[in-house]
Amino acid sequence: MKVISGPASKALAEKISVLTGYPNVPVASKIFPDGESYVRLEGSVQGETVAVVQTTCPPMQDGRLFQLAFMADAAKRAGASKVTAVVPYLAYARQDKMFLSGEGISVETIARMLKAAGIDELITVNVHSEPTLKQFPFPAKTLSAIPLLAEYFVQKGHKGAFALSPDKGAMYIAEQAQEVLDGGAGHLDKVRDRYTGQTRQTAEGLNVKDQTVIILDDIISTGGTIVGAAKILREQGAKHVFCACVHGLLIGDAEKHILDAGVEEIVGTDSVPGSVSKVSLAPLISKELKAQK
Ligand code: R5P
Repeated sequence: MKVISGPASKALAEKISVLTGYPNVPVASKIFPDGESYVRLEGSVQGETVAVVQTTCPPMQDGRLFQLAFMADAAKRAGASKVTAVVPYLAYARQDKMFLSGEGISVETIARMLKAAGIDELITVNVHSEPTLKQFPFPAKTLSAIPLLAEYFVQKGHKGAFALSPDKGAMYIAEQAQEVLDGGAGHLDKVRDRYTGQTRQTAEGLNVKDQTVIILDDIISTGGTIVGAAKILREQGAKHVFCACVHGLLIGDAEKHILDAGVEEIVGTDSVPGSVSKVSLAPLISKELKAQK
């Protein structure tokens, strides 16, 4: 197998090559003056199975999806026998249903486009809704980075912290973290208005007085969910509040708003390279690629 370093995940792909021992194929890329994307594989993939590592987080998630498609096409044209897309953050994964009449299902459209480009299989990380992947036209799997995030807090001396999911639907995240942290798990309830996007959070039966709490979510986008949760925890008298996410999109001033809400540290992964990506997904993805060989 060879690992193709997508422009959006170059550092992660290089770490995966080191951990797996699979040769790295660099990619030259540029954006033309009119905004179109160009990629070129700078190594041979003739007869190889390849893993194309390319996250599709903002900014430029549409461009990054096209780069991924172009790399898959280039790999197939250069003789690759199988193309596995490793897409830590899968753009459009939250539009996985027709929530309102007249909508489409964006993530399924993306999957069909990727299939047409030559992708044979997809690996992602903590996709927003796992059942979505069953609708894809190729095998698709989601890995969980939650144990790695929880381990980060154990290393920082927070074994025994309470794991909180900001939404009942994401309770599995708090449960996975609790297996490592061993300090209990719970969730808030979140209701979203589908027209305005506004959310409301409540904390039925939760009591975290004097506890260290880690709020864990799959995605932090505007930070509104974490800010709302932190406010509830502070009102309840939590001693320390931290937050962790797999995909720290942190749009606009999200990071500042979260810290201003009393969260002591924000921890994310290199699914979205940036100021909070303190945990690498390389060990998780490398293990999966090794297991597949
Ligand atoms: C949605 O259900 C996700 O799990 C996250 O909770 C959400 O995307 C976070 O968005 P924001 O940071 O804008 O509140």
